[in-house]
Amino acid sequence: MRKKVTIVGAGNVGATTAHWIVAKELADVVLIDVIEGVPQGKGLDLLEAMPISKTDCHVIGTNDYADTANSDVVVITAGIPRKPGMSRDDLLQTNYRIMSDVVGKVTANSPNCILIVVSNPLDAMAQAAFRQSKFNRERVIGMAGVLDSARFRSFIAEELKVSVENVTAFVLGGHGDTMVPLARYSSVAGIPITELMPKEKIDAIVQRTRDGGAEIVKYLKSGSAYYAPSAAVTEMTEAILKDKKKVLPCAAYLEGEYGISGYYIGVPCKLGSRGIEQILEIKLTAEEDAALKKSAAAVKELCSVIGV
Ligand code: LAC
Repeated sequence: MRKKVTIVGAGNVGATTAHWIVAKELADVVLIDVIEGVPQGKGLDLLEAMPISKTDCHVIGTNDYADTANSDVVVITAGIPRKPGMSRDDLLQTNYRIMSDVVGKVTANSPNCILIVVSNPLDAMAQAAFRQSKFNRERVIGMAGVLDSARFRSFIAEELKVSVENVTAFVLGGHGDTMVPLARYSSVAGIPITELMPKEKIDAIVQRTRDGGAEIVKYLKSGSAYYAPSAAVTEMTEAILKDKKKVLPCAAYLEGEYGISGYYIGVPCKLGSRGIEQILEIKLTAEEDAALKKSAAAVKELCSVIGV
C-alpha cells in the first residue's frame, strides 16, 4: 500500500510541497485547506500532471478532515505568511489560533502520524503542536534547519563556484534572527569553509543566511519563500517514509540536550520511520553555545506569550 501524506494549507508552501512529493513518487497526497475550491483545484491539476511526470501518486484536494484519515505524515503549513517589514514573531497569535484548530482535527483523524510543522514562528508553532497533540516528541518535528542550511549551502556554492552537491552545512538554533549557522561544521567536499574563505566573507554569508527569509519576502512583497521551504519539507518527509536514518537539522523538543529543557530548537536529528530517532549532540565552542542559548531564550519568550 502506498504511503499517505496530508498537507494542511494549500497556499504556496503547501501546494509546492505536494508537487515535490508526487514528482518524487513518495506518497499519495491529500491537500486540505479551509478555503473552498482551492485545494480541490490544485489537487486535481496536480493529479492531471501524473501521466507526464510518470509518477503513480493519487492526489486530492479537500476541506474535509475525514479525507486525511490514517496519514503517515502530516505537514502543517497553515497560517498567514509575513509581509515586508514583519518578523516571523509578528505572526504568533494568529498562527497559534490556526495551529490549535488544525492539530486537533489532524490528530483525531491520524492518531499515528508524524507531524511536520512549517508554520511560523516555527519553533513556537512546533511547541504548540507538540503540546496539543500529546504525541511523543519523536513524532512532532519542526522544519527550519534544512531550509536555513540549504540557504547557507547555496551562498557558499555561489561564492566558491563549486557544485551545491559538494557543500554541507549546519545551522542550529531557532528559525529566526538568532539562528546559529556553524561555519566550523560547514565544508566543501570535506574541506572546512574556514580554510577556503576569509572570515569577513563567511560572516557576510552567515548574516545573509539569517536574513534569508526576509530577503525573499522583500522581493515578493506579499507572501514568503516557498520553493526552498517545500523542498526542505520534502527531504524530511522522504527520510521518514523511506526510513533513511538521515541526519538533518530539525526543530526538536529538547529534554536536556545542549543544556536546554522544555523547548523546541534546531539541532541535528536522525530521521527515520519513527520520526526523530536520535538527537545528535555535538560539542560547541563557548561562543556557539552562547548563541544557541540566546536563540533558545527567544523561543522561550514566544512560547510564554501563548502559554505553551
Ligand atoms: C522563510 C520563512 C518561510 O524562512 O520562514 O523563508
